[in-house]
Amino acid sequence: MNTMVSLSKLEKDILKDIRPNKDQKSLISSYSTKALTLANKYAKKYKGKAILAGSITRETWLPDKMEFDVFILLPENLNQKNFERAGLDIGKKVIESLKGKYELRYAQHPYVTGKINGVSIDIVPAYKVDSAEKIKSAVDRTPFHVEFVNKKLPSNLANDVLLLKKMLKNIRTYGADTKTEGFSGYVCELLIIHYKGFGNLMKAISKWEIGEVIDIENNWKKEEYDKLHDIFYGQPIIIIDPTDKNRNTAAALSGRNFMLIKKLASDYVKKPTRENFIKEPRKPINGEELKEKQQLRNTQFLFLKFLPPKGVDDVTIPQMRKFAERVQGILEEDKYEFKVMNKDVFTDGSYLSGVFLEMEISKLPLIQKRHGPSIFDKEGSNNFIKKYMSVISGPYVENKNWVIEINRPFITASDKIRDSLAKTGKELLEKGIPKLVADRLLKGFDVVTNLDTIVTEIERNENFGIFLRKFFEKEKLI
Ligand code: UTP
Ligand code: MN
Ligand code: MN
Repeated sequence: MNTMVSLSKLEKDILKDIRPNKDQKSLISSYSTKALTLANKYAKKYKGKAILAGSITRETWLPDKMEFDVFILLPENLNQKNFERAGLDIGKKVIESLKGKYELRYAQHPYVTGKINGVSIDIVPAYKVDSAEKIKSAVDRTPFHVEFVNKKLPSNLANDVLLLKKMLKNIRTYGADTKTEGFSGYVCELLIIHYKGFGNLMKAISKWEIGEVIDIENNWKKEEYDKLHDIFYGQPIIIIDPTDKNRNTAAALSGRNFMLIKKLASDYVKKPTRENFIKEPRKPINGEELKEKQQLRNTQFLFLKFLPPKGVDDVTIPQMRKFAERVQGILEEDKYEFKVMNKDVFTDGSYLSGVFLEMEISKLPLIQKRHGPSIFDKEGSNNFIKKYMSVISGPYVENKNWVIEINRPFITASDKIRDSLAKTGKELLEKGIPKLVADRLLKGFDVVTNLDTIVTEIERNENFGIFLRKFFEKEKLI
């Protein structure tokens, strides 16, 4: 068993910088007390009850987010429609009473989020159920999470959770949303509980193997771990939810982020530095550097640009990633012979988005040589010759096989993309282009291959420049 290790000088210094100050604490505390009272008042009509949840209940919140969570627990017998209506009604009234602005969000079901004086409040409806096994949707688990963490996280380890959250934020792996694919706040708390502190956790992570199982309450026997690997196939780490043994709380973590976190922890164990928590953000790539990249790599760049799909990142980013896969598929169809080397998606949510492709083959000769059947295959030969009556050259024979040379329909990747995507909405959907991207393509898109035009975009949008730096300067994971 690990014993608790006290924090180092560096860790204490970092804490001084990242912990909420008195003003921030009293701001959150006063709004949360008010919000809870209001929520309980408005929930009465629906026989509901409000509780605080998430990081505010264990003092593990970072002031750079300034957010707290209120859960409205509603009776199980309320049907879906009335449940949603009640949740939104209560949420709106709470935020309005606090004189804030509210917005509707759609996770597994709708909830309300509000902002007042720099403080964000999430008001999430959930069904009140007797045990975590009886939940109707994922949010219904939250009260059980609150209970577990309150019972198991010693108050002096809240600081350790803050250090962990800050460290993960620093490398953009904090959050279980589809854009981040990292660890949630709850996972951070479970890890600190399990390893009894930040220092121990860093050592443990540096030794994690892919497929690691962390079963805090020993709900599974060691002999059953193979079974767990089947159930959670493809998930790099399995952190069993102590309130529901059939759930992996770390299911959202990507393989790349698993390696990145492991690398960071190994570096930290060897040599702890301030940069492990607070890193200079990367600078946007500039025109000179981009040109140099292209010369050194001798590849072609292609930016398929369109207006940002409408919606929250959690919905649009997966659709854009799927779209990028489709674009690659279209370019690499057998008969066209283009080849993509690297690709990624970018969106700033308001003006600019697109798929950036680094091409291994983006330009081809005017003609294409195609190999047909053997001259001994009579039927095959007849069909082949009939099909290719008008060709540039042939049919001729090479090593007992028919050969022809034809004109390529597309000699550049851009032409092929333009042809495939300048279609009606119905055709785009039939091609497997996700809806929100298709909606934007219909409004127009650009296939940019000219380096100067790409540089202009970087000059207009710093984040696009940072995105390209990351694209070409990938982090070492070992
Ligand atoms: P948060 O994302 O706010 O995390 O979700 P947190 O633990 O409070 O950490 P920070 O400090 O804000 O980053 C709080 C709870 O709300 C649930 C989560 O499961 C978590 O238990 N939640 C939140 C949902 O289930 N769905 C949502 O859309 C939002
Ligand atoms: Mn929160
Ligand atoms: Mn929240």
